[in-house]
Amino acid sequence: MMMRMLCKAVAVALMTASASGTAQDAAVKPFTPEQIKKGASLYATNCESCHGVRMMGPPWGSDLTTFPRDNRARFVDSVAHGKNTMPPWGDVLSPEDIAALWTYVVAGEPKN
Ligand code: HEC
Repeated sequence: MMMRMLCKAVAVALMTASASGTAQDAAVKPFTPEQIKKGASLYATNCESCHGVRMMGPPWGSDLTTFPRDNRARFVDSVAHGKNTMPPWGDVLSPEDIAALWTYVVAGEPKN
């Protein structure tokens, strides 16, 4: 009896989760391989010239592999508005693009 109720609760939760799959949610949900892949290609196009190829090369900007993993808000803000000599990206990249870049920076490349 108890088991049955639990299963039902899980099913409802799953349905709710997939129904509200907006871009906003995507940012807080666990990263998907698609998002990381999108972030990787955006990174290669827009960021690697300063931050190193696949974040591995010697960066001319800052080393993104050491960016604090718990500070997504700062990442989004710095990328959208720029920081010191880094140009702002808010006019070039959509919030979804920046969200994908965040997944790439956090989960996209193996740490050395
Ligand atoms: C023209 C060179 C250049 C490009 C291109 C560039 N950056 Fe930067 N970036 C910099 C420099 C320089 C800094 C260091 C800024 C500072 O702290 O003074 C920086 C810093 C950062 C930081 C750290 C900001 C902080 O709050 O400490 C992040 C995150 C970042 N860049 C992400 C990106 C992403 C994502 C892209 C691609 C969309 C990108 N950058 C493209 C030059 C660049």
